[in-house]
Amino acid sequence: MKKEEIHELIEKAKLVREKAYAPYSNYKVGACVVTSTGKVFSGCNVENASYGGAICAERVAITKAISEGEKSFKAIVVVSQSAGKAKTAPCGFCRQFIYEFASEAEVITSDLEGNYQIFSMETLLPHAFGPKNLFK
Ligand code: THU
Repeated sequence: MKKEEIHELIEKAKLVREKAYAPYSNYKVGACVVTSTGKVFSGCNVENASYGGAICAERVAITKAISEGEKSFKAIVVVSQSAGKAKTAPCGFCRQFIYEFASEAEVITSDLEGNYQIFSMETLLPHAFGPKNLFK
């Protein structure tokens, strides 16, 4: 993915981040998933008074894409404020969720200033359990 494309996606994720429903954590996250054909689906985190019912921005973006019939992804961009140097990387649930549909995708994490890092799923979730273990 080219730098200009990454920056466009970061801007999109920043916009959807503003829609986050995060009254409990006050921590807003925006994400954009890019299909193999270049379509973009965005999502924000949506929390719940029953805290465990919260859903992360990454999973919202991916479920939106899947529900529109998309199955193949090349990248996912995640934007949030970062505490110090570390950019927010997807949580454990989201890593497993991303792996299910996008084990080859680039995972790009960015802070609000557009400083980003790129990870492979192999790095984020090594020796993963996935569909290949269940289907031949
Ligand atoms: N969150 C995300 O949406 N994505 C991440 O990658 C990390 C965490 C959300 C979940 C919760 O609403 C808030 O951030 C604080 O954990």
